[in-house]
Amino acid sequence: MKKVIVNTPDKSYDVLIGKGLVKNAGEIIKSITGISKLAVVTDDKVNALHAEKLLDILKKDGFETEKFVFPNGEQSKNISTYSDILNFLAKNHFSRTDMIVALGGGVTGDMAGFAAATYQRGIKLVQMPTTLLACVDSSVGGKTAIDLEYGKNLAGAFYQPCCVICDTELLRTLDGDVYKDGCAEVIKYAAIFDEKLFSELENCGGNISDGAVYRCVTLKKEVVAADEKDTGERQLLNFGHTFGHAVEKCSNYTLSHGKAVAAGMAVMARACIKKGLCGQKDAERLISLIRKFGLPTETEYSEKELFDAVMSDKKRRGGSITLVVFKETGRCGLFETDMNTAREFLAAGLE
Ligand code: GLY
Repeated sequence: MKKVIVNTPDKSYDVLIGKGLVKNAGEIIKSITGISKLAVVTDDKVNALHAEKLLDILKKDGFETEKFVFPNGEQSKNISTYSDILNFLAKNHFSRTDMIVALGGGVTGDMAGFAAATYQRGIKLVQMPTTLLACVDSSVGGKTAIDLEYGKNLAGAFYQPCCVICDTELLRTLDGDVYKDGCAEVIKYAAIFDEKLFSELENCGGNISDGAVYRCVTLKKEVVAADEKDTGERQLLNFGHTFGHAVEKCSNYTLSHGKAVAAGMAVMARACIKKGLCGQKDAERLISLIRKFGLPTETEYSEKELFDAVMSDKKRRGGSITLVVFKETGRCGLFETDMNTAREFLAAGLE
């Protein structure tokens, strides 16, 4: 098992990474939180695969457990499911000394995390990611949210978990498409920060190693420690996300987050060549890695449709937005600009 310690101004916590960690979940949770009553929040897909096993283990370890299950998919990450979770906790007499375990992918972690952040002004939270995307990105760093009618993650809170238990054995049951979503985020880390990881990905035959998961989490912990509230360098993690979120929104969330981010990275890489910010070779290397993983590098939506979606992105601040631009393999930068220039980047990236 590997451990990454995440330090934020108010909280330090461990991200534990290894095969078979679910078996030790009870012991880990007990030793870290000292809590005995918890609600496992999960979706129907993960429920069928992993929830009963986890609940058996937790019950054997003496926990009082409840389970809340919602339909799999981004469409569930809304105010109605969120409100159902809060009412479920209240109905089952959860108090401030109890806890939520978020068992699942990004949608589960974000929404259960937001419920933990807000129920009775905050109860403890353990993240147990079951997808590659959640392991390398969304379960770490305390971003929690739900989507609103007008856009993604528009209501949320920064709320750090007590620990993250990342059992990489669970990734074996992922279907290929969900696995690919996580690969897009791993490519993102490599493109922003780490040429060595990038080269590894070019030669890994499509399989992300536990070492690569550990590397991504280590990179994330450094960024979160420096900028928990996302006002500075943490924004680098939004590489591919401004145009990616727009693609996701235009598809009415039928295109998954990872695929939308992959397309968003490719659009930005093309735009950066045209704007003279990066060399053609590096941008093409990125686009070809995205393709190698079977991820999209194009989008069917028009510049107008996408730009309308960018306008409701929470990264916009009045008339300006911070774009994450690609400079070379392993290096991105922040570029604060006006919305007209953002539109020019979008147009250039779509050509
Ligand atoms: N997923 C990007 C971040 O946590 O900042």
